[in-house]
Amino acid sequence: MDRIVLAYSGGLDTSVAVHWLADHYNAEVVAVTMDLGQGKELDDIRERALAVGAVRAHVVDVREEFAREYVLPALQAGALYEGKYPLATALGRPLIAKKLVEVAAIEKASMIAHGCTGKGNDQVRIDVSARALSPTIRVVAPAREWGMTRPDEFEYARVHDIPVPMSIESPYSTDTNLWGRSIECGVLEDPWSEPPDDIYGLTKSPTECPDMPAYLEIEFEAGIPTKINGVAMPLTELINSLATIAGSHGVGRIDMVENRLVGIKSREIYEAPAATVLHIAHSELEALVIPKDLERLKHDLGRTYADLVYNGLWFTQTREAIDAFVAKVQELVNGTTRIKLYRGDCHVVGRKSSNALYETALATYDEGDQFDHAAAEGFIKIWGLPVEISAQKSLRHSEANVGTTEKSLDKD
Ligand code: ARG
Repeated sequence: MDRIVLAYSGGLDTSVAVHWLADHYNAEVVAVTMDLGQGKELDDIRERALAVGAVRAHVVDVREEFAREYVLPALQAGALYEGKYPLATALGRPLIAKKLVEVAAIEKASMIAHGCTGKGNDQVRIDVSARALSPTIRVVAPAREWGMTRPDEFEYARVHDIPVPMSIESPYSTDTNLWGRSIECGVLEDPWSEPPDDIYGLTKSPTECPDMPAYLEIEFEAGIPTKINGVAMPLTELINSLATIAGSHGVGRIDMVENRLVGIKSREIYEAPAATVLHIAHSELEALVIPKDLERLKHDLGRTYADLVYNGLWFTQTREAIDAFVAKVQELVNGTTRIKLYRGDCHVVGRKSSNALYETALATYDEGDQFDHAAAEGFIKIWGLPVEISAQKSLRHSEANVGTTEKSLDKD
C-alpha cells in the first residue's frame, strides 16, 4: 500500500483531505503538523489527525529553524515583496516542504500532500521546493484536484463521518506564523473597500492604542537582533516580544495589491508587527554603516531576493549566493536603532554604531567643521565637465537650428 505524508493544519480542507487521499490513492495517510509560531493550540492536533483517519500523526516544532534559517536571512537581505510584504507565508513554505520530504523518507512514503488550492502561490512554493529536495517525490494537492466547494466539503465530511471543526467558518483565508499573518478573501477581494476591523488578530486599531508613544532600542550584532531595550533575548522570543509590543501600538498593518506568480493581481492584507519594526530598524542601521555603492547594490539584490522567495525559488543557487553576499555585509551591521511606536506609526528616531561611517566633523555646519570646502570647487569642475560639454553642444545645435529657421523665414 502507498503512503502519503500530508501537511495537516487541522482545518476543514486538510481534515477532509486525509480521507479523500486514502480513498483516491488507496494509501495510508500520515499527518504532519508544523509549529511555525502560528500560536494556535497544537496540543490536541495529533488526536484530531488520528480521529479523521491518519494512521500516524507527527507534530514538529520548527520555530527555531524557521527564525534562524528563513526569517533572519530575509530580514538581513531587506526582503520586502513589492516593497511592502515581509513574506511571512512565503518563507514558511520551503520549510514545510523540507519537513514533508524528511518525514516521507522516514516513513518510506512515495508521496507528500498539502492543502493548497490551484490558484495561489503557496502550491508553487511547496511543489517546487519539494522537487528541489527530492526529484523522485510525488506531490499531491487534493484541493487542486477534487473540485469541491466548501459546502461540498462539509457534505463530504458528513457522509464519511469525518469530525471537522464546526465553528462558524470565517469568510477569510488566513495563514499565521512567527513572522506575520496573511488575510485574504471575502470583502477584502474588493480593493476599494476598507478592511473591517475584525479581520485583525495581531494588531490593535490605531484608535484603540495607548495615547503614549513607546520607545524601543533594538540592538544588532552582525545583523542579528539580539536585545530590546538592553534585554538580551533569543531570536524567536525577541520576535514574539516585538510582535506583542508593536501590535499593541497598531504597528504592522499592510494593505496592498500584489502581483501573484500565477499571473493575477490580488488584494492582500498582512499583519507583521515584528517584521515591520525589524526591517525598519535593520535597514536604518545599515544606512549608517554601509558605503553608498554597497548599499545600492544590496538594495537591488534585496528586491531580487524578495522575488525569489515569493516565487518559490528558495532552494536555488541564486538564493544561496545572495545569502553569502548579504552575510558578508552583515559583518558591519553592529549597533542600535531607536524606534518610536505611536498609534500605528513606526519610525526611527535615533541610530548609533561603532562602525558608523557618519563623521560629525565632516557633516557639521557648526564649529569644528573639517570638510575641505575649497576642494569642492575642483571636484565640481571635473564632476560637471560632461554636463558642461553636452550643454555646449546642444547650445550650438539650437543656435544652428535658429539660424536655419531664420534663413528659411527670410526666404518667404
Ligand atoms: N499572498 C500571500 C503570499 O502569496 C499570502 C498567501 C496566504 N496564504 C494562505 N493560505 N492564506 O505569500
